[in-house]
Amino acid sequence: MFVRRRPHLREKVTLITGANGEVGHGLIQHLYALQDASDVVVLDLRGLDDSMRGMVNRVIVGDILDNELINLLLNEYEIDTIIHLAALLSTHSEFNPETAHRVNVQGTINLLKLAIEQGKSRGLPVKFIFPSSIAVYGMPDLETKARVTAVKEEDFLYPITMYGCNKLYCEHLGRYYAQYYQQLSASRSLGVDFRCVRFPGLISAQTLPTGGTSDYAPEMLHAAIRGKPYACFVREDARIPFMMMPDAIKSLLMLADAPQEQLNHYVYNVTSFSLTAQEIAERVQQNFPDAQITFEPDTARQAIVDSWPADIDDSAARREWNWSPEYDADRAFSEYLIPIITELASHEK
Ligand code: SER
Repeated sequence: MFVRRRPHLREKVTLITGANGEVGHGLIQHLYALQDASDVVVLDLRGLDDSMRGMVNRVIVGDILDNELINLLLNEYEIDTIIHLAALLSTHSEFNPETAHRVNVQGTINLLKLAIEQGKSRGLPVKFIFPSSIAVYGMPDLETKARVTAVKEEDFLYPITMYGCNKLYCEHLGRYYAQYYQQLSASRSLGVDFRCVRFPGLISAQTLPTGGTSDYAPEMLHAAIRGKPYACFVREDARIPFMMMPDAIKSLLMLADAPQEQLNHYVYNVTSFSLTAQEIAERVQQNFPDAQITFEPDTARQAIVDSWPADIDDSAARREWNWSPEYDADRAFSEYLIPIITELASHEK
């Protein structure tokens, strides 16, 4: 008797790279709470924290620069969405610019190519969700930064960090792979469905970022709650936009879910509120009067923050996919940061 075998069906999944980073943790916990993480395959050099492993379909410990691994993913899964979070942040990248370039740019090309090949085999473009950053901007001087506040997507694109250059170039690569890839071949590629948000400085109540230049804000807060002194590495008047992690996750998922016919851009600014370092310190001190915060600016890191805009214009995202943040500065502190970090810190004692 011959048994008719069912053709092997590849499992349909969402791939999240860099899942063990700050945004990855927030995203996976959010999807898990919505019972929406069972089709998530995670790829990260460090795997995924033990406490979160059971939340997803599979954890792959590996490198986005490993082509064999990328081929394995291509053959094993039907990937309909890639959320590509893996990157080296701005301060970290300045210490290892060529490594940063490999991870941030070559890593992104590898995943865009994976998306192209997947798109071909399923006859439908893969959604490619990419977080970019305010680091793509380069304000020429402090006078211009003070004068031009809500900076639009297409203005002042002169990044002064390797990370900013990498992110800006990857935005262009996304547009290229979406619209022009193999434009001279007889059979045009389907491309990828590339969608990108430019994040401001992100602050999570649960985790601290590693290697970023906007890290002074979360570091100040997490130190105060644990009763530790903090020397802030930028001046009191340093001002950039910020966003709470739940809003960052919300923006990624809203953009991923937006009907394609509503989207007229590949890249969207998103923001919540802007504060100076002094204003953040004051809000921390209102809640923790004993907080010991001093300002000891590091000239080089200060220059990076000075090159980032004081505020960005996110009206395209608001108009085209109804973006709006949940947390303004008041709610961010009173309803998100202070209660959650206080609760977490109490368990550490
Ligand atoms: N938070 C990032 C960094 O500081 C900027 O997007 O590198």
